[in-house]
Amino acid sequence: MSKIRRLFVCSNCGATFPKWLGQCSSCGEWETLLEQAGAPEVKNTVSLAEKTGKTLHAENIYATATDDAEAARLSTGFPDLDLVLGGGILSGSVSLLTGQPGIGKSTLLMQIATIIARHVPVLYISGEESAPQVRARALRLAGKTPKTTHATMSANSQATQPPLTLDFASSTSTNDISQTILANKYKFIIVDSVQTLAVAEIAGAPGGVAQVANSGNLLIRAAKATGTALMLVGHVTKDGNLAGPKTLEHMVDVVLNFEGDRYGGFKTIRASKNRFGATSELAIFEMHDKGLSEVKNPSAALLAERQNVDGSIIFAAIDGTRPLLVEIQALVSKSSFGYPKRTASGFDLNRLNLLIAVLEQRTKLTLSDKDIFVNVVGGIRLTDAAADLAVCMAIASAAASRKLADDLVVFGEVGLGGEIRSVSTPEKRINEAKKLGFTAAIAPYTIKNQFVKPARDLTAILNAYLH
Ligand code: TYD
Ligand code: MG
Repeated sequence: MSKIRRLFVCSNCGATFPKWLGQCSSCGEWETLLEQAGAPEVKNTVSLAEKTGKTLHAENIYATATDDAEAARLSTGFPDLDLVLGGGILSGSVSLLTGQPGIGKSTLLMQIATIIARHVPVLYISGEESAPQVRARALRLAGKTPKTTHATMSANSQATQPPLTLDFASSTSTNDISQTILANKYKFIIVDSVQTLAVAEIAGAPGGVAQVANSGNLLIRAAKATGTALMLVGHVTKDGNLAGPKTLEHMVDVVLNFEGDRYGGFKTIRASKNRFGATSELAIFEMHDKGLSEVKNPSAALLAERQNVDGSIIFAAIDGTRPLLVEIQALVSKSSFGYPKRTASGFDLNRLNLLIAVLEQRTKLTLSDKDIFVNVVGGIRLTDAAADLAVCMAIASAAASRKLADDLVVFGEVGLGGEIRSVSTPEKRINEAKKLGFTAAIAPYTIKNQFVKPARDLTAILNAYLH
């Protein structure tokens, strides 16, 4: 007789455990483990499976036509977003757009839906908003939809501009949505949001692990069967994790993260996963009264409100493949409590703590009794290692009340010894700085370029350039 194995599943992240625990050791949530109906012991199943398996039918990849896959990309109407997606939305692909409530997910998808509906039938399904609400928004946005060139459409369709096929349905039933996809009337379907969906046959509240994972599974199967491009919306919690199970992120083809300030500032979209393209690209958006638009010259916009005060340094960043000049600000003040406070916005806090330790050990700055705040202006989140030198200089500038000259940009990685290390694609950074009127870059000495003021060592740089 096969022994029944006990299995506990975390209702937050979907991790499984052989015994009950008060806290899920995978996601850290308390009291989320629920017992699942027992699965038979693995050993017996394995020997059974060995007998029932069949040899796979495999095909030569190079022998099959590859062109049609590329041709079936749908342009979103936002060139930079298309780049993030790897050239537009691929037919039959399933994407997940995640972001905090209020960041602009529904707005963006309505704009994209309007553009794509000029070429293929589009359905917008919302479980959160009613038809009048969505219609009101769509009409408001229709006043200004971004102009674009469409990779997927033929020349004559552009000339005639067919009427919009943009339908709306309000539903939270995964069963109904799956049937709608299988009916194959629409080529692009948006589901806003996965946290509202429920499969009739499955117990559990919408947003829980069982409902989200099974809804995802059902919809993905339907989309793959019909070649429908599917876009799912997922809300994230305050700390940036997808509300509900992580499993959904593994199931979909593309995960897009919508980040930034909810009120003003720039918002960015990055792919944290993309089966059809790179994950390094970045699209920058701004919210207007008529919806979102891409920021065309982010460097100029980011520097527009700059005042050169202590603690302000311009960093020549690379985001994805794109150069970007951003202002890094630091504020250093005396700690009023025994334990100094360190805060980073747009920059990794662990990296900040490391750089503060390097500054303390390798230069004469005393920072252990100071609160330090670092801010990347414009709601941009930096992932570029070359930000180190700019962050160090901003902190030193604020701590010593000294300024860097107006016309200098900075980039370079800082090692634990206080040495300046080389970084990727210096030429692109230099060209962007030249374009915006800067006269020199403080940068790793290994770069051979007239524009560069060579940097070898942190202490020497701080002494030479901060006045
Ligand atoms: P929304 O797209 O509903 O956010 P999400 O779906 O991610 O929860 O809206 C985001 C905010 O943007 C909302 O507070 C109102 C604002 N907004 C504008 O500023 N301009 C607009 O044209 C629209 C449609 C919304
Ligand atoms: Mg919404």
